[in-house]
Parts: sequence; C-alpha cells; structure tokens
Amino acid sequence: MSFPTHRPRRLRQSPAVRRLVRETHLAPSQLVLPVFVREGLTEPVPIGSMPGVVQHSLDSLRRAVADAAAAGVGGVMLFGVPEVRDARGSGADDPAGILNVATTAVAAEVGDALVVQTDLCLDEFTDHGHCGVLDDRGRVDNDATLERYAAMALAQARAGSALLGLSGMMDGQVGHVRAALDEAGFADTILLAYSAKYAGAFYGPFREAVDSQLKGDRRTYQLDPGNAREGVREALLDADEGADIVMVKPALPYLDVLADVRAAVDIPVWAYQVSGEYAMIEAAAAHGWIDRRGAVLESLLAIRRAGADAVLSYWAVEVAGWLDSGARA
Ligand code: PBG
Repeated sequence: MSFPTHRPRRLRQSPAVRRLVRETHLAPSQLVLPVFVREGLTEPVPIGSMPGVVQHSLDSLRRAVADAAAAGVGGVMLFGVPEVRDARGSGADDPAGILNVATTAVAAEVGDALVVQTDLCLDEFTDHGHCGVLDDRGRVDNDATLERYAAMALAQARAGSALLGLSGMMDGQVGHVRAALDEAGFADTILLAYSAKYAGAFYGPFREAVDSQLKGDRRTYQLDPGNAREGVREALLDADEGADIVMVKPALPYLDVLADVRAAVDIPVWAYQVSGEYAMIEAAAAHGWIDRRGAVLESLLAIRRAGADAVLSYWAVEVAGWLDSGARA
C-alpha cells in the first residue's frame, strides 16, 4: 500500500481552511453599478431583456445611487437616454442634456460615498446610433469624433463626474480627452479607457436599455473577437496616452485577454460584465436551469481571478448585499 505524497485535499477539508487559503476575494468596493437614466420619465421603466434592470427617472436614479452607496459598492457608471437625437449627438455635451443633469443630481446625492462615473460615448445621443460622427460617405470619422469627445468630457467634468469611461474605441481618444481636460483645469478627472472592447453579440440587451438607433455593427472600431494580442496593444497604447485605468469588455468570454492585459500594464485593470452576460444567467436561472446566486458569484470571482481589480456589473448592489451577509465568493 503506497500513500500519496501530495494531498491537495488537505487544504479543502473545511470551510475555515478553504477560506484561509482562498486566493481571490470579492468585495463590494470592487463592484461598479451601471445605471440608465432616461429623459422625460416620471417612473422607472423595466428593460425586458434585462430582468431586474430599469431605465430610471431622475428621482428613481437618485434613490438607486443612494442604495448603491449604502451597499458599499465602489461606484456607479451613468448612461443617459435622451428624448431627442441628432447626427452629431448634441445632447452629449449640452449641460442640460440628460446625462449631465443626472450626473449633477447624483453627485449632489452621494457626495464622496462612491465614485460617480459617466459613459463618454456618442452612441446614445446620435440618431444613427454610432459611437462617433459620420463623414460624407457614412463612415465613422475618427478625428472629428475626438473633438466631440473632448466637448463631452468637459461637460461631464463640469457636471461633477469624477471618472470618465471612454467607451467609443476611437484611436487617440484617451490622449485627446486628457489634453482637453488638463487645459480646462480638470487634471484630477480620472480616465477609464475601454481599451479592449470587442465587437460582438453580447451587447444585445444594452441596445434595448439605451433604445439604440444602430443599424449595422461597430466592427470598424471595436475589436475583432479573434484578436487577443490586439487587445493588449490597445491597452498599452491607452496607458501610454495617459489612461488611469484600462478595461476589457465583455468579461467572461474574454478572460484570456483580461489575464494578458493584467500582465502587460501596471495600472488598474477593470472588466465589464455586459448585458448579454447578465441576460444569459438571468434567463437560465428563471428556467430553474442554474443556481442564480452561485452562478453570479462564480462569474464575478472568475473575472477577478483572471485579473480584474474591479468589475462593472448589473448585479453590483445585490452582490454587495450578499457579501455583507457572509456569502462566499
Ligand atoms: C457604448 C457602450 C455599449 C455598452 C457600454 N457602452 C454598447 C455598444 O458598444 O454597443 C454595452 C454594455 C452592455 O452590454 O452591458 N457606449
């Protein structure tokens, strides 16, 4: 009879031992809640493809963000849904535009209890639904879009956003926005670069959430799903342009990219658990095919394990509550 020399099971024998040797932890402070606010609403409106997520009115948004702060989540990321759209996305840098108005309201509501963040992209505000302005041949015009992003950045910083999420995937957007902010005296405004943002099918429910006008796709600016090295290259370029934080998106289908980016940069790396990831787990759980809480916690833990310092997740507040009550992730 020979006995095993190595017994890895020794460290799995009880909850106390497992807790002591666990390599990765989840904490409320590592979660950021994305929220949608729609102009003109007096009551929140449910989003069919994202059960449990709503388009907020200004009032319900204030309450949701106060709840997020009370739950201890690290931040909220605001997305605005305007009533009127045009080709250049004028609502984006209008101080009276819904996103900027909501930002000021939320910043006044929560103060420094969490980090108030805003999506910096034109797609919710353009009548064609693209993330930038179009040239005379209908293509997304990179450099003309940078000017729009700079104006949007100033409007958001003035409205009280502490962190701008550059999600448009235009070349040079980080450097351009950084320069515009610095010149206007906003040296402290933090830039989160959605560096490795992949074009794909997982944003479907989000398009409903923001009432997207997009026909076609974003493949001339978002990354091709087959490319991992290119994701790392984008993160390195963004870090070089002055990004404070870089991001990989979607999260679960791109854990390899997340791990590669983590190894390549020395600034924080975040991941966005997107609407499609949310919808898949919710739908399976609604059928009784998957344990909802277990799957949610495991998905977030996996994203953290792969290298994300923080995660944007529509479950942020609910998960923070679970963690507080001792759930193990
Ligand atoms: C673009 C943006 C998108 C998402 C966040 N920012 C949509 C897109 O690129 O089409 C998707 C987020 C999600 O699916 O949860 N401003």
